[in-house]
Amino acid sequence: MKIISTKTKLRKYFIYIDQDITEKFPVFLMKNFSNTEKIVLVTNDKIINIYEKKVKDLLKKINIEHKIIVIKDGEKYKSLESTEYIFSKLVKFNVHRNDAVIAFGGGVIGDLTGFVASTYSRGTKFIQYPTTVISQVDSSVGGKVAVNYKTVKNMIGSFYQPHMVIIDPMLLHTLDKKQVINGLAEIVKYGIVFDKKILEIIRKNTNLNNNDRVLSLVKSKIFEKIIFKCCTIKARVVEKDEFDNGYRNLLNFGHTIGHCIENASNLEDINHGQAVSMGMIAAIDISISMGLAKKQLKEDTIEVYKRLELPYIIPKLDVEKIMNALKYDKKFTSKINKFILIKGVNKPLFCYNIDNDIITESIKNNMESY
Ligand SMILES: NC(=O)c1ccc[n+]([C@@H]2O[C@H](COP(=O)([O-])OP(=O)(O)OC[C@H]3O[C@@H](n4cnc5c(N)ncnc54)[C@H](O)[C@@H]3O)[C@@H](O)[C@H]2O)c1
Repeated sequence: MKIISTKTKLRKYFIYIDQDITEKFPVFLMKNFSNTEKIVLVTNDKIINIYEKKVKDLLKKINIEHKIIVIKDGEKYKSLESTEYIFSKLVKFNVHRNDAVIAFGGGVIGDLTGFVASTYSRGTKFIQYPTTVISQVDSSVGGKVAVNYKTVKNMIGSFYQPHMVIIDPMLLHTLDKKQVINGLAEIVKYGIVFDKKILEIIRKNTNLNNNDRVLSLVKSKIFEKIIFKCCTIKARVVEKDEFDNGYRNLLNFGHTIGHCIENASNLEDINHGQAVSMGMIAAIDISISMGLAKKQLKEDTIEVYKRLELPYIIPKLDVEKIMNALKYDKKFTSKINKFILIKGVNKPLFCYNIDNDIITESIKNNMESY
């Protein structure tokens, strides 16, 4: 088992990564949460359809009073309405601060449940039990919890570190290819911005002639190492800048334009990972046109994308709508924009006040039939 210790201002917690962790979870829980009287597991209808038996068996073994709350599947349910729905169930179940709320699902369930845990009774115990690639390599660590407001992503949220993160890579085996690919963009981000060894592992363990290469990679033992590397990077970044005052923005590489692409597609047609993939290519293009990076960086990145079947062409969308969405970026002030650009692999930098024409060109350059 791999264990990562994370020391934040709010609390110290551990991230446990292991293919058999689900079997050990009841023991972990009872050991670490001895004064917890109730447990509430939040998940969605799709996940519970697949894992109902596993989840129920697990909760039975824990021998603590428990309930399962099921919300509907989808980004649009990361909302204030779902928050209120979960609050109402917690009140009905008489949940107190010492009780634990478990997020069993992907980034949507993690962000939503974390937001609930951070605000209900001014903060209940919170366990992240991620079930998608994005949530296992990124979103379950670091304490950013939020819901969307209408079509604006993560508009309402807080910083609330989990009390424990349980990562079982076996849960990824039930994801379909599209969902797997969705998560791989964040892994490439960690490789480009922080640790080129991740890119080497990808190159070494994907054969372009194998059409099943993406699913094979995720089901292989090496993927546990990738999860470990990504979570360790995230934990260290969060320790340095828990409340996102500067350094942590590096994790936002590709997300600035990525989030705008997501917004322009009304949060439905393009998923988070696809949007981040396209956003990273746009950020690399801006870096090239500003003379910071060489053209080769884009070619090398696209080569890795092809191995992971990540999209690098933005589908036909309203460019003005994408540009307009930039004003909601939390890194921007009313007058000054802020981007994470890149000089080369593992050489990120912050850039301010980038000309709108350069940003627009980076979007048009990479857009379908523009
Ligand atoms: N808080 C953070 O730091 C952070 C970081 C990155 C992304 N995010 C957020 O995460 C969200 C995206 O996360 P996601 O990609 O996990 O999306 P998701 O939670 O919507 O999950 C994707 C799909 O996979 C299904 N699913 C989940 N686990 C499954 C399993 N084991 N088997 C089969 N199907 C399964 C879900 O029901 C859903 O249909 C976005 O809302 C994004 O803003 C947050």
